[in-house]
Amino acid sequence: MKIVEVGPRDGLQNEARAVSVDTKVKLIEALVDAGLRAIECGSFVSAKWVPQMADSGAVFGQLRRVSGVSYSALVPNTQGLAEAGRCGVEEVAVFASASEAFSRHNINCSIQESLERLGGVTRDAIARGMRVRGYVSCVLGCPYEGEVPLASVERVAVALAQMGCYEISLGDTIGVGTPRKAQAMVNAVGQALPIKHLAVHFHDTWGQALANILAALEKGVEVVDSSVAGLGGCPYAAGASGNAATEDVVYMLDGMGIETGIDLEKLAAAGRGIMRVLGRKSVSKAAVALAARAGAEA
Ligand code: HMG
Ligand code: MG
Repeated sequence: MKIVEVGPRDGLQNEARAVSVDTKVKLIEALVDAGLRAIECGSFVSAKWVPQMADSGAVFGQLRRVSGVSYSALVPNTQGLAEAGRCGVEEVAVFASASEAFSRHNINCSIQESLERLGGVTRDAIARGMRVRGYVSCVLGCPYEGEVPLASVERVAVALAQMGCYEISLGDTIGVGTPRKAQAMVNAVGQALPIKHLAVHFHDTWGQALANILAALEKGVEVVDSSVAGLGGCPYAAGASGNAATEDVVYMLDGMGIETGIDLEKLAAAGRGIMRVLGRKSVSKAAVALAARAGAEA
């Protein structure tokens, strides 16, 4: 199983409290030390839209990179790609939505316009020798449109794969999905693309993320996105919630005898470190249980 740690990007982009470059770098290095080999470290997007990620260039500048680890960044357009290139980023992630309304709210253009733009971004990234991962957002529901047709999820996933994304991460952005719906969605996309090219990315808004991950594994998915400590549930944004907590995913996979190469104790220590800075408690059940066992506060 491969775990893609998205806490430093997806998690911290949604945290209300500002986090210094030093803290971000320490977090990423602690995650690498815990055994994670794929980490999304930041994004090169408009600082007006996502101020929490405005220092991503400085984060990449300070990181001591370990060989064999992919340190990736999210980019929305050629401007973001150029900036990522200047910072020595070797893997980028592009993102499109399966819902028209979410596309307009998140990136200010239609799905079709975003796919045309991302085609150019992906082509340029590959020409620079970068690897490109693609996200589809709103695969199990949209905050503006409600139900999202599976045909739309499939269409966007196929478009991203055809433009050259080596892996397609299927994002339940608002965490509304439940296991049978998650399986139906994976099946639908899996009919059009090889299952080994798919990843799942579940937010835990309704407490379904871990169940949905298990449901996706039962359908053959081998790549899971998660955030250490479940980072990302901004306490000031009503209803917002982070990704599945990496500690919980690792505990579940360990218990199922599935190899991840991740040291749960070290991972939980990395989570405690960032939660101390944010001044709030971990939402990872496994991290809380580990801390209770050690007689410490999570
Ligand atoms: P726009 O306003 O339509 O862009 O935003 P524009 O091209 O008209 O440019 C407007 C200004 O933004 C200009 O500056 C540009 O230079 C600047 P000004 O002249 O006004 O001073 N700009 C940029 N600055 C820095 N980096 C860039 C960049 N591009 C333009 N790359 C844009 C369009 C896409 C830029 C904007 O909407 C944006 O940055 N959106 C990002 C939103 C975002 O990061 N959302 C969160 C990530 S997606 C997600 O979390 C979902 C995921 O986790 C999966 C899931 O959960 O489902 C991936
Ligand atoms: Mg996300």
